[in-house]
Amino acid sequence: MRVVVIGTGYVGLTTATVLAYIGNSVTCLDTNAEKINRLKQGILPIHEPHLDEVFDQVRHKMCFTTDYAQADIPNTEVIIIAVGTPSLPDGDADLTYLTQAAESLAQNLGEAFTLIVNKSTVPIGTGKWLEDRIHDFTDALDDRPGKRDFNVISSPEFLSQGSALRDSFYPNRIIIGTQHAPSIERFSKLFEPIHKQNFVSPKCLPRPEDLQEVPIFVCDVISAETIKYAANAFLATKISFINEMGYLAQKVGADVDALAKGMGLDPRIGSRFLNAGIGWGGSCFGKDTAALVATARKNGLEMRIVQAARDVNYSLRQWIVNALQEKIGDLNGRRVTLLGFSFKPNTDDLRDAPSIDISKELVKRGAIVTAHDPVALKNARLYYPDLGVVYEDDLSKALENPEAVLLLTEWQDYLHIDWQNVPQCVIIDGRNHLDHARLRDLGFETVRFGSKQS
Ligand code: UDX
Repeated sequence: MRVVVIGTGYVGLTTATVLAYIGNSVTCLDTNAEKINRLKQGILPIHEPHLDEVFDQVRHKMCFTTDYAQADIPNTEVIIIAVGTPSLPDGDADLTYLTQAAESLAQNLGEAFTLIVNKSTVPIGTGKWLEDRIHDFTDALDDRPGKRDFNVISSPEFLSQGSALRDSFYPNRIIIGTQHAPSIERFSKLFEPIHKQNFVSPKCLPRPEDLQEVPIFVCDVISAETIKYAANAFLATKISFINEMGYLAQKVGADVDALAKGMGLDPRIGSRFLNAGIGWGGSCFGKDTAALVATARKNGLEMRIVQAARDVNYSLRQWIVNALQEKIGDLNGRRVTLLGFSFKPNTDDLRDAPSIDISKELVKRGAIVTAHDPVALKNARLYYPDLGVVYEDDLSKALENPEAVLLLTEWQDYLHIDWQNVPQCVIIDGRNHLDHARLRDLGFETVRFGSKQS
């Protein structure tokens, strides 16, 4: 099929690569000329495991452009919108890019039926709004009002950063938000290889052995849009729940990791998303929970559970700084090394990363902060040049002479640190990631979140 993907962020680029891999002719369209030029040269704007390998394999079958006319919209069967919808200061989503896409699409749609799939996370009700906007624009243009045949559906994306490609090849469900039969048919045809799992897996990403078919769930547009928020809010709440138990564990002398293990063995609860620590960040959980609370409020409803999950989450960024101060006293002039800056491992993304708030608080209290991360320091220098933190790419240099080490992101690399060569210091493990028994044997004073030992 001919597919155009608008937006080349995590969702757009991953989706485009997967659709090209399973045999479609894909054009990536983005208004950012620099990004498009780099993509044409095979340079990816994001760090995502295996994306470079698979992208290299298929990029000769893909086109990259900033120009809607070049994307040949009239001969395109499916358009996927994956533009950014960042938060405005009041928590509402900024729909500027979506509006621009709607206008440009309206100017370029042909008369044959076009399926427009929205994958951007948008406020509930945006699917209908988008369809109306495109109608408004086409009607205002023209010569041929009402002649464009298109339908806007919602198919929310559930990929996680750090495993974006795997989640796209092997998703746990495909949601189709529309009740328009021709749209369901076209979308199902496009995603049939993913649904049936009958494509040859990329060598770097073999199919999970137990995966035979990916379920498809069809519902109305608004429910599809709401599923995305509900799923993210639920996962965020699950993490905040275990973190709140962690606060209690510290008081009563229990161990939060033991709680998580014991709870997670119940299949009704499940063990995933019960890793306690300094909580969630990233581009989705913070933004989506804020949007859910705001949407509910507009509808006269308080989302008390989701709001509580947010409160617990953001309190943990203070907890770690306070825990440090409790251990070493006044932070003024004290040398603190942060291990990990990205919001989670295997990504270079810093959006809503706990490291940013924690750095600000440490600097405010006068600490001398050095930060290490295996991949995110390029973005840190770009987006946070004035944080007052020294960004150090060399891990051994970052660990040369700290008074305290705070682990903020559970990168695998940090499991292989040669602690014997690190001077004695306090280690606060914000992700319960390190081997504390061994560290203590080596003479370090350590703190884990939610632990009776802290
Ligand atoms: C999330 C959703 O998982 C994904 O389905 C949706 O499409 C986008 O939002 P992502 O933000 O990429 O994905 O990462 P995720 O793995 O969900 O982690 C989010 C945050 O929660 C990270 O900061 C992570 O460190 C934290 N986390 C996760 C925990 O603190 N504990 C856990 O047990 C799991």
